[in-house]
Amino acid sequence: MKDLIDILDLSIPEIDKLIEVANDIIENPENYREKCKYKKLATLFFEPSTRTRLSFEAAMYELGGNVLGFSEAQSSSAAKGESVSDTVRTVEAYADIIAMRHPKEGAPTVAAAKTQIPIINAGDGGHNHPTQTLTDLLTIKREVGRLDNLTIGLCGDLKFGRTVHSLIQAMVRYDNIKFIMISPKELKLPEYLINEVLVKKNIEFVETESLEESMPELDILYMTRVQKERFFNEADYVRLKDTYILTPDKLEHAKPTMRVLHPLPRVNEISVEVDKDERACYFRQAKNGKYIRMALILKLLGIE
Ligand code: CP
Repeated sequence: MKDLIDILDLSIPEIDKLIEVANDIIENPENYREKCKYKKLATLFFEPSTRTRLSFEAAMYELGGNVLGFSEAQSSSAAKGESVSDTVRTVEAYADIIAMRHPKEGAPTVAAAKTQIPIINAGDGGHNHPTQTLTDLLTIKREVGRLDNLTIGLCGDLKFGRTVHSLIQAMVRYDNIKFIMISPKELKLPEYLINEVLVKKNIEFVETESLEESMPELDILYMTRVQKERFFNEADYVRLKDTYILTPDKLEHAKPTMRVLHPLPRVNEISVEVDKDERACYFRQAKNGKYIRMALILKLLGIE
């Protein structure tokens, strides 16, 4: 495997191995400090990011490597009209591996076809975000102790939320997973995921608009932001953005072992009072992102 474009590029044994390596990095960071000495990661971010870009960069630095790149299209020659293909054909002369975020779905696939060096999809439009999914899986494993036999509530913008799409594709490959899809009808999960993934694989799922009614059943509550940047109409965004706000009183009906995940950034969908609850693990999740990306960089560079 040269690139990571889609979470389905990884088999379950490969995902389990990445989680094992990430856990070993957490336990024994000193063993990894020079693994990527003289290697360079290019972060090509044509869309804004805090966690993904900085955790990739921190990951490479903690492996002893170096980082170059840009954090917005306007500061690259994309602003002058350069194509993604020409950009990555240029950057492969300067770096050993590329992490790329792009607003156009499929842009990392195009990039991967044009370069010899590994391309990591760091989010493409409303499509996929496989390294967020790896982060989510590591977090669930560390927090709950298993990746099977789970009831997972996905709440918020299930239409445009690429992290949800990738997470579903990953979790359906584990045993006895049930999904509760909690969204307004305008932001329901796309039909292709319902028909081509959930129905086809005979996965148990429920669609509902009620977070409160779903809460007692959940092992995981995966909250998401309403994706303002993907709306065509500001009025629709304003009408839908605060449909769900998780507050401490709503959590009173949740299992004591339930965990609240959120890929972040949050806007208003989780009140800051929830942060004090031990079940809120979204900042631990963001930290896990660095370790799983370290494991992924090692894998794609072929470093033991
Ligand atoms: N979770 C995530 O992708 O966050 P950023 O947009 O800050 O990278």
